[in-house]
Amino acid sequence: MEKIRVLIVDDVPETCENIRCLLHFDPRIEVVGEARDGEEAIKKTEKLHPDIILMDINMPVLDGVAATETISLHFPESAIIIMSVQGEQEYLRRAMAAGAREYIVKPFTSDELVSTIYRVYELEQKRKFHYRRWSDQMSRFREGKVVTVFSTKGGVGKTTIAVNLAVSLAKDFRYSVALVDLDLQFGDIAVMLNLKPRQTLSDLVTEYSQLDEELLNSYLLHHTSGIRVLAAPARPEYAEIVSPELVEKVINILKNNYDYVLIDTPGIFTDPVLVALDYAHTILFVLSLDLPTLKNVKLGLEVLDSLHHKDKVKVVLNRAIPEIGITPTEVEKTLGIPLAAQIPSDGRLVVKSVNKGIPFCLSDPQSRVAESIRQIALHLAGGDGDQELEKRKRGLRLFGRLSFNS
Ligand SMILES: Nc1ncnc2c1ncn2[C@@H]1O[C@H](COP(=O)(O)OP(=O)(O)OP(=O)(O)O)[C@@H](O)[C@H]1O
Ligand SMILES: [Mg+2]
Repeated sequence: MEKIRVLIVDDVPETCENIRCLLHFDPRIEVVGEARDGEEAIKKTEKLHPDIILMDINMPVLDGVAATETISLHFPESAIIIMSVQGEQEYLRRAMAAGAREYIVKPFTSDELVSTIYRVYELEQKRKFHYRRWSDQMSRFREGKVVTVFSTKGGVGKTTIAVNLAVSLAKDFRYSVALVDLDLQFGDIAVMLNLKPRQTLSDLVTEYSQLDEELLNSYLLHHTSGIRVLAAPARPEYAEIVSPELVEKVINILKNNYDYVLIDTPGIFTDPVLVALDYAHTILFVLSLDLPTLKNVKLGLEVLDSLHHKDKVKVVLNRAIPEIGITPTEVEKTLGIPLAAQIPSDGRLVVKSVNKGIPFCLSDPQSRVAESIRQIALHLAGGDGDQELEKRKRGLRLFGRLSFNS
């Protein structure tokens, strides 16, 4: 049976001793410490995390009302019971308003004290239980979507699509977006966004056991579009130290904190890529219109099918140019799967945007390539045009999750 841990706060040592005696015979209660004034009470609360604090009102240095205010704000897990004497009604009212859970008037008997502690403790347990359930439900409700941009061929435009899609989801639809560069050997997302990573995925390896939301946040680069970026390792040889377990942890943290987690990948099935495919809600399988790519993509789709991922796959045809021998319809027939989207070829614009480090969805939002990316973003969001954006604006006003400039 877990003990109820109690901190006694009173400037009179004999009073503390008396209270200890009153609680001594109760098997469920353990006095974990004493404090002589409000300031010491705050320090001991921070150190000991008591379940219950028995707090006197009139004390030197910092009185019980002020201490109650600070503790309720910073350590709400510790419930405060005020110990007052007759005639302290005004102080008592202020202490209750400051966050005390209950009060007990001195002198009290052992039974009165113990039953008050039990009552407050049980109410606190119920409150914590409901709060945990509520926050679990909220985090499920807020869980973001993972989109893995993949292909079994290099150079087909995965990174171009991942970067611009991330920007479009953030800029055009006001989603919070994290972009992860899982092309661990030759990832170039940071270059495409003109960002200079100080720390990357491989630096996280040594911090695996402490890795949490706050630590991961300190690794994310901020881009002007609002997206956050986790860069690929600085050198190809660091790729092998990034374990699938680390990737799994990173994705889990990010999807609890962002509406979308976009993952760029190399053109092969590595262990970290398999994790990104497992976690994906949608796999954007990118291909271009040439025979070697088609052959590899067909094989890749078979592998994804054997991994039971085929339902999540959306095939995206990049650099769609008419009149080059193979038509989109022939591609669909060969692969046995419809094309979910087509992105036109625009060498001049795309290369200019890469060289400047500014995604074309930002620099040339009116271009056909940017429009086709916006359509994919819309498709992912599952809405239609202005209606989707309106819905997002309303949602954001409700939850205040992102700042809205428009
Ligand atoms: N729609 C497009 N029109 C014209 N050029 C494009 C288009 N999409 C991508 N490119 C160009 O194709 C090249 C490869 O693109 P990108 O680096 O995005 O491909 P990738 O699949 O990520 O390659 P890798 O497998 O090497 O990581 C780049 O030079 C890019 O500028
Ligand atoms: Mg790439």
